[in-house]
Amino acid sequence: QRFRVAVVVGSLRRESINRKAALALSRLAPDNLDLELVEIGDLPLYDEDVEAAGPPEAWTRFRENIARADAVLFVSPEYNRSVPGALKNAIDVGSRPYGKSAWAGKPAAIMTVSPGAIGGFGANHHLRQSLVFLDMPVLQQPEAYVGDGFNLFGEDGTITKDGTEAFFKKFIEAFARWIERTAKDDPAR
Ligand code: FNR
Repeated sequence: QRFRVAVVVGSLRRESINRKAALALSRLAPDNLDLELVEIGDLPLYDEDVEAAGPPEAWTRFRENIARADAVLFVSPEYNRSVPGALKNAIDVGSRPYGKSAWAGKPAAIMTVSPGAIGGFGANHHLRQSLVFLDMPVLQQPEAYVGDGFNLFGEDGTITKDGTEAFFKKFIEAFARWIERTAKDDPAR
């Protein structure tokens, strides 16, 4: 069975190491996963008044892109030991209107990438807190707190550090098995 995986990157930066990691994971993914980046940079800040007046097209498009997916892969930096505001906003946008969350029940995995040694642990676990509420079964192992992020990728985005490619492959293969076990039959449900 083939699975559509929405990939949500928590950084808006052109040269983002998290975006590079997401693209590397896409290249290393097993054949039955179709990974597709879903952009979050154009989403207006969530506001219930705006929802009531009629949601902006960018919100609707984002919700449809998530709803269409069988699973979601989050690849994010850590900002101030937590989730970047842009990513939290995307999570909030996707979770509404009330009772119509686009995230509900979809298997998820989280990788955090940082230039520092802690590998975005704080963001990784704060994100897990939201995913509990959103009823997304999250891959537990292997955990992916990726440090030394400025020394992992070449100019063309290839992985240059020994061991990292093997770890990325192990991570995305574990996610594929997790999706096979937990994906809902009908993603539109
Ligand atoms: C950071 N950075 C950072 N890094 C980290 O490991 N822990 C942290 O708490 C923070 N806090 C933080 C706050 C803000 C506002 C910024 C802009 C940055 C550094 C961050 O990891 C670095 O900029 C990465 O390069 C961001 O990831 P991308 O954009 O390269 O994917």
